[in-house]
Amino acid sequence: MLTSTSTALPDILLIGATGRTGRIVLSSALSRGHKVTALIRPSSSLAPQANLTISQGSPLDASAISTALSLTTGRVVIISTLGQTRTSGNPFAATTSPPLFMAQSSAAVVQAVKASDRRVAKVIAMSMFGAGSSFPNLNFLMRATMLYSKMKQTLEDQNEVDRIVKESGLRYVMPRPAMLKGDNALPVKLLGEEGEKAGFMPSVSTTSVAEYMLDAAVSEEWDNRTFVISN
Ligand SMILES: NC(=O)c1ccc[n+]([C@@H]2O[C@H](COP(=O)([O-])OP(=O)(O)OC[C@H]3O[C@@H](n4cnc5c(N)ncnc54)[C@H](OP(=O)(O)O)[C@@H]3O)[C@@H](O)[C@H]2O)c1
Repeated sequence: MLTSTSTALPDILLIGATGRTGRIVLSSALSRGHKVTALIRPSSSLAPQANLTISQGSPLDASAISTALSLTTGRVVIISTLGQTRTSGNPFAATTSPPLFMAQSSAAVVQAVKASDRRVAKVIAMSMFGAGSSFPNLNFLMRATMLYSKMKQTLEDQNEVDRIVKESGLRYVMPRPAMLKGDNALPVKLLGEEGEKAGFMPSVSTTSVAEYMLDAAVSEEWDNRTFVISN
């Protein structure tokens, strides 16, 4: 069931809490006073903390998402920071995640939310600059890297997430961060929904992205928007 926003602090259902950005979202959400339920794979782990509920299951499985949703109380915002992984940060390094696994997770989230009696306010999915309509605004080097390296698998997956979430009818926020660089807490710049205001090689810190998504969890300002963000 979908609801519009209210003033109470929502619970956060976090998918991808074990990743680089997800870990920062988790600690910041707890610092801000949210109750967090983290859906993590059975092969992964997180240290127990106050106000954190850990639910183990596959984020590709609607029933695991339903179980995690059932552990939330009150209004809930779902944040996904899942990411395609490779053996190293080199764009040509072998992929270690299945093609389109983030898209499969998005479809499972949509299915679970539509079947749920929980008050899901919105879904926030961490996308990237280059996804969907923002691709033409990447510089030529980034466009070529995305198309001719193993990053193509990430691009194809993010494009599918973009389509599934937009077609779902759910309220969403899908930030499209520029290249992730560092973890300093710096102000966020909005470069347009398609990155039309981007310079040559923008970057953004993981902390800035995490804080932007948590701001978006409690504000309607960026609902149904896909801003490219940088520092
Ligand atoms: N790198 C960049 O410059 C950049 C720029 C803009 C946007 N982005 C986007 O930002 C997002 C987050 O990136 P990040 O670097 O913070 O993520 P990350 O550290 O690579 O984290 C990946 C997360 O996805 C999970 N995951 C990976 N493969 C999985 C699978 N097969 N099944 C289930 N879960 C799986 C991991 O879980 P486990 O811990 O269980 O493996 C982990 O929680 C990504 O979608 C990426 O496309 C990246």
